[in-house]
Amino acid sequence: MSIWNQKARKRREEDLAAGKPALILGIETSCDETSAAVIEDGRLIRSNIISSQIESHRRFGGVVPEVASRHHVENITAIIDEALRTADCTLQDISAIAVTYGPGLVGALLVGVAAAKAVAFSRGLPLIGVHHIAGHIYANRFVKELEFPLVALVVSGGHTELVYMKEHGSYEILGQTRDDAVGEAYDKVARSLKMPYPGGPHIDRLAHEGNPIIPLPRAWMEGTYDFSFSGLKSAVLNVLHNAEQRGEMVNPADLAASFQASVIEVLVEKTFRLIHERPVKQLLLAGGVAANKGLRQVLTDRAGKEGIDLIIPPLSLCTDNAAMIAAAGFIEYQQGNLADLDLNGVPGLPLS
Ligand code: KG4
Ligand code: ZN
Repeated sequence: MSIWNQKARKRREEDLAAGKPALILGIETSCDETSAAVIEDGRLIRSNIISSQIESHRRFGGVVPEVASRHHVENITAIIDEALRTADCTLQDISAIAVTYGPGLVGALLVGVAAAKAVAFSRGLPLIGVHHIAGHIYANRFVKELEFPLVALVVSGGHTELVYMKEHGSYEILGQTRDDAVGEAYDKVARSLKMPYPGGPHIDRLAHEGNPIIPLPRAWMEGTYDFSFSGLKSAVLNVLHNAEQRGEMVNPADLAASFQASVIEVLVEKTFRLIHERPVKQLLLAGGVAANKGLRQVLTDRAGKEGIDLIIPPLSLCTDNAAMIAAAGFIEYQQGNLADLDLNGVPGLPLS
């Protein structure tokens, strides 16, 4: 263990013993958002600065890894400064640095990890490596205190998972997608309808203008909590292709509504099947697709009917942000899970 790490551990112990409020500086650069945040005692957001690169990637129809890394390098220092300024504090007040170290684009992750290591090392601060999905789950803790055991339905651009948590910081994946993630399917369907990247919000909006009258498959993956969305995506493409060959028009709003209905039915039904088999105190929704209005509505209605305590993050905390990373990092800080200077970006980092 390095001398810096020993000092950082000692500092954590002293700060905890003194009962000082814990100010965690969070850093997130796993994909196309550069973000830094300061949060207090795990649940109070003092600042959450997010710089989105979407405009730079849109003309390519998706995130270009090299472009993402370059933007992160250009922005990270200013974003950290702004997060501190907005939180009305300096690095001297910070208790620890929490940074996303995976999963994500390796070049993008490395920018955040290098920045976090530099600040932690130069200031003798504890360093915490955070899993991006743990961050998405902990965005819910800004809404309400978590009660265990709980289940989180994680739906993002890269993940679709049912995660069981028996306590803070413990993640068990009970089901996951075998092919496309939900957000990925949304983006591909949107692209086939000639919508800009990222397509999820556009499909969501369009779906509310149409009717789910086009028959599309639902992959139940019986006997498991797993998901599959590539068959659904191909079915949507087939509908468009066949109509084109026959010289017919498909109503894009009806297609969006039908696609969204299939996605939501499977996600919600499988989540509740799990809850019936493994009773939990809370159900959490997490990830970029948690912004989906249809999914939020159907989950809320079903949870209300079944008397389940459902937590959904506000829209501002659904997409990638550093406040959620700091919130998950706070748990690791409390549990003493500190990283050393060999912390690295891990593109395929497992959650459990
Ligand atoms: O969590 P996130 O910001 O990035 C990852 O960690 O992957 O999620 C981004 C994904 C994109 O695929 C985007 O299209 C999708 O979330 N998304 C939506 C909505 N808002 C964002 N998908 C469906 N409906 C939405 N309203
Ligand atoms: Zn994300």
